[in-house]
Amino acid sequence: MPFLPVKRQKIVLACLACLSLYFLYHPHFLPFPSLSSPTSSTSSTSSTSSTSSTSSLIDQDYFWLNVPLRHPVQSFLPLPISPPPPKATIQHRFPRETAEEKAVRLQRLDAVKANFTHAWQGYREHAWLSDEVRPLSGGKLDPFGGWAATLVDTLDTLYIMGMHEEFEEAVQAVQTIDFSHCALATINVFETTIRYLGGLLGAYDLSKGKHPSLLSKAAELAEMLYRAFDTPNRMPITRWDLHAAAQGDAQEAGESVLVAEIGSLTLEFTRLSQITGDPRWFDAVQRITDRLEADQAQTNVPGLWPIVVNARTLDFHSFPMFTLGGMADSLYEYLPKQHLLLNGRTPQYQKLYTTALPMLDAHLFFRPMTPDNRDILLSGDVYVGEASAIPPPEPKAQHLTCFAGGMVALGSRVFDRPQDLAVARRLVDGCLWAYEQAPLGMMPEIMHTVRCAEREHCLWDEAAWHAAIREAFAQDETYANLPVEQIIRDKHLARGVSKIDDRRYILRPEAVESVFFMYRITGEQKYMEAAWRMFTTIVASTTTEIAHAALSDCTGSTPVQEDRMESFWMAETLKYFYLIFAEPELVSLDEYVFNTEAHPFLLLP
Ligand SMILES: *[C@@H]1O[C@H](CO)[C@@H](O)[C@H](O)[C@H]1NC(C)=O
Repeated sequence: MPFLPVKRQKIVLACLACLSLYFLYHPHFLPFPSLSSPTSSTSSTSSTSSTSSTSSLIDQDYFWLNVPLRHPVQSFLPLPISPPPPKATIQHRFPRETAEEKAVRLQRLDAVKANFTHAWQGYREHAWLSDEVRPLSGGKLDPFGGWAATLVDTLDTLYIMGMHEEFEEAVQAVQTIDFSHCALATINVFETTIRYLGGLLGAYDLSKGKHPSLLSKAAELAEMLYRAFDTPNRMPITRWDLHAAAQGDAQEAGESVLVAEIGSLTLEFTRLSQITGDPRWFDAVQRITDRLEADQAQTNVPGLWPIVVNARTLDFHSFPMFTLGGMADSLYEYLPKQHLLLNGRTPQYQKLYTTALPMLDAHLFFRPMTPDNRDILLSGDVYVGEASAIPPPEPKAQHLTCFAGGMVALGSRVFDRPQDLAVARRLVDGCLWAYEQAPLGMMPEIMHTVRCAEREHCLWDEAAWHAAIREAFAQDETYANLPVEQIIRDKHLARGVSKIDDRRYILRPEAVESVFFMYRITGEQKYMEAAWRMFTTIVASTTTEIAHAALSDCTGSTPVQEDRMESFWMAETLKYFYLIFAEPELVSLDEYVFNTEAHPFLLLP
């Protein structure tokens, strides 16, 4: 089924009931109507009056602060306060490097920074305060509400790279962002949370609270997003008509909600409660975690959650599709991270993670057959109809699943599960293989491989590869009857790849993200080398006059660039490259936890 990867598929709504796509981008700015009677808006139903710890950070005339709530919370779920267990050490203790090693490392660090500076200048010059710069034409694009997504997303990277003047300039510019206007008819609450709320809080934490204006802007945004949770059952609307909400219309949570979009809001909202002491934000997301926990054992793959849940009826278990790719990914990623952020003061997130991981390992992770018989893993998809046995995974590899190695490596430290590190290593090595097998050195968005029958022993079998290609093209009128050699040539299939479903490389971070976690956790130099190969191949194909461009096809012998650079290129991909070549103490994993958009939140001691 052609489900779209959605984690960062920003402007497309995968309506799963009908599988149709809606483009949500509207070209004009639509100011919200002012409330009919502003004097009556300080309604007693609004819960903001009782929780002024955040509202005191913002102007009392701020639009969203004065949109009354229909379903205020009577009793807030508090941040857990039980004494924390002893803290695990996450990073490897790095030995002193030689002068020669240091020279090479610093040279690489400079190359990453030079590429970042190039892209930042392109944005600053051509698209300042827009969501994105167009890297080929120099145009601009506003797919995320028009609140300067690239600028907000990139604040902490500027800080990490020591670009303090640029950082100060960007912090000033944040003050002009107005969350009471929106360019879109509906917004994606998850994307808005990870990019904007995460970006503001990450920059606030990293600069050690020296810029209260960043926190105020985060509070303004949170007041807006909180209205998406104003439903009878307090489940948020994930694709949210904020204009209707602004008019005070009644709202209900969706019946087909992508589980990643509802299940990975915890870090950002929790961090805001920690900083402000306001319980509303943690309460809002903790209710979702409690729902996930209630249904975890009831699904068709008990322990895992399906990609779609019904947030209106609270059925979080019936849907038959499971993946670690788009639509589900960051839900799992957030479990060990939220445990860290809460200092392990509740066992809940550990329980969810340690219940899920063995099922991911048993039912989604598979070994692909490779010409050099590599002992690696990829994460596939599984479809499980009601009451049927769980079949083996479809040997599909989405670039989005490449975060898994980093998650399992982090989880092995956070939860003291040293045996998991071998699984993490095989997952990271799986994505490195997916990069290396391609002529230009980048993994495409989605491809199919050949699954080994056994994980421990697997030898290359040319005939099995050919058979998998035949099967993959059996329904294709043009290719079904052609010699397999011709399909391989025409479709640019590297040995071990049976089909390339989506040929793009859109500057995504997940593979280097996992390399970063493996490097910081194990200290193994081979991951630094792998990162350098990855970096040089990516910039060789994507650099433009203005910035860097996504590729509409990364699988041939020449890259095909497209006029798009999403904010995660500077927020995530280049940040992770930089941190791999920086001193390991810079943004240490023992001090910070990264949200899914690579924004670092300070861990409480
Ligand atoms: C990007 O890094 C590469 C090193 O791989 C370097 O050759 C290139 O000059 C850098 N690009 C910019 C714009 O600085």
